[in-house]
Amino acid sequence: MAKVYIKTYGCQMNERDSEQVAQMLIARGHAITANAEDADVVLLNTCSVRDLAEQKALGKIGMLGSLSRQRPVVYGLLGCMAQSRGSSLLKDVPHLDLVVGTQKFHRVAEYVEQALDRKASQRWDDVRFSIVDVEEEAGSQSTIREHLLRPKTVSAFVSIMQGCNMHCSFCIVPFTRGEERSRPINEIVAEVEQLAARDVKEVTLLGQIVNLYGRHEFPKMDGKSPFVQLLEAVQEVPGIERIRFTSPHPIGFRQDLIEAFGRLPKLVEHIHLPVQSGSDRILRAMRRTYNRDKYLDLVGRIRATSPDIAITTDIIVGFPGETEDDYRETCELVERVGFDNAFVFKYSPRRDTVAAELDMQVAETIKEDRNHALLEVVNSWAKRRGEALVGRQVEILCEGPSKTNPERLMGRTRGNKIVVFEGSPRHVGQLLPVRILRSTGYTLYGDPAIHSN
Ligand code: SAH
Ligand code: F3S
Repeated sequence: MAKVYIKTYGCQMNERDSEQVAQMLIARGHAITANAEDADVVLLNTCSVRDLAEQKALGKIGMLGSLSRQRPVVYGLLGCMAQSRGSSLLKDVPHLDLVVGTQKFHRVAEYVEQALDRKASQRWDDVRFSIVDVEEEAGSQSTIREHLLRPKTVSAFVSIMQGCNMHCSFCIVPFTRGEERSRPINEIVAEVEQLAARDVKEVTLLGQIVNLYGRHEFPKMDGKSPFVQLLEAVQEVPGIERIRFTSPHPIGFRQDLIEAFGRLPKLVEHIHLPVQSGSDRILRAMRRTYNRDKYLDLVGRIRATSPDIAITTDIIVGFPGETEDDYRETCELVERVGFDNAFVFKYSPRRDTVAAELDMQVAETIKEDRNHALLEVVNSWAKRRGEALVGRQVEILCEGPSKTNPERLMGRTRGNKIVVFEGSPRHVGQLLPVRILRSTGYTLYGDPAIHSN
């Protein structure tokens, strides 16, 4: 039995993949530890979306490898950076044993055991078990299906597809995650049913472009896309109270999906809808295939069906060639939409992408300034959106103790806003009506309305 430390960088999909790895290791008798210094196996599940994420993982594995150890330790890099850098990582990280790509998470436990066995049978201080597996694997989209649920886990991620064929000019994901491949609806529903049987109340369906789920594999039916068919099927699973998904692309966000929000009661009132820029010129250079007016029109149609829906987004500042005018158009779009929240990223050139080769890269200081100023606009809207809920009664799903104050509980509204309130442990896992008393930036404070009814 080995003690395994797993650290995850990046998005929810990576978290989900790490959960699969952890589950498989536990099923084979190993234990997960939160303490890297005391671990027999150190695995970092990496992110390549921005350079900073890669540097963090490389720094961490370097630091952990330099600790003096009294026994053999296996070191592995998994996921996106492993996929895109492959065996060259063995040169960069001298003590690295495993490099396992994004279609091979289900093999990690085996490789870990092979490495442990070999280290145990040799003079471990000068053995490196270099295994690199970054091959493509048909059907790998169906290998992320097991869950490791702590007691009282109320919310779970479900990976419904892998890869992305969009090739936005800034994005490394199509290289790290491969071609789009979707799992069949019945397989996903079976997984959701198992989660419901374990008392999970909320599922978040994950994909790089979830709304385009199944477009290569499954036909439209009655004018409904495969994704809307999937939402309808998950809606029918007893015990599941809320359905979320992330992230859709504005392209292919059609009327059938907009109407689903008015029709499927479990589908919550929140959409994370990455816009990336408010300038048509930049959107074209990014190869986003929609323009500013189309995005605003989509938001308008969504709000016409679901007036209270929360909309969040991703924005990149400092894309090559972005002028002050382009940037102002982005700020103006943020004001116009009034997002509930937004992630603002400084453009980071990525290997193999078209944008990295463009002239007119924007200076780091300008990126910093734009990032900072745009965040102020985003924050002021987030605050306004939060304050609009003060005095109202909302339904929250209680997840557990608040991270900042374990004496209190926290839950999320259907719009994905965090609410902190005083309650009792029996509330965990329940849907509760809560009256919002006040709002500070991103957190709401509430009073459970249950004692009054
Ligand atoms: N469709 C995916 C996008 C993955 S990348 C999803 O939302 O799940 C997540 C976000 O990172 C993107 O929406 C984009 O805003 C940002 N991003 C991607 N590549 C980037 C780069 N090269 N520099 C800065 N930000 C980037
Ligand atoms: Fe990346 Fe664009 Fe796909 S942001 S993940 S290439 S939709």
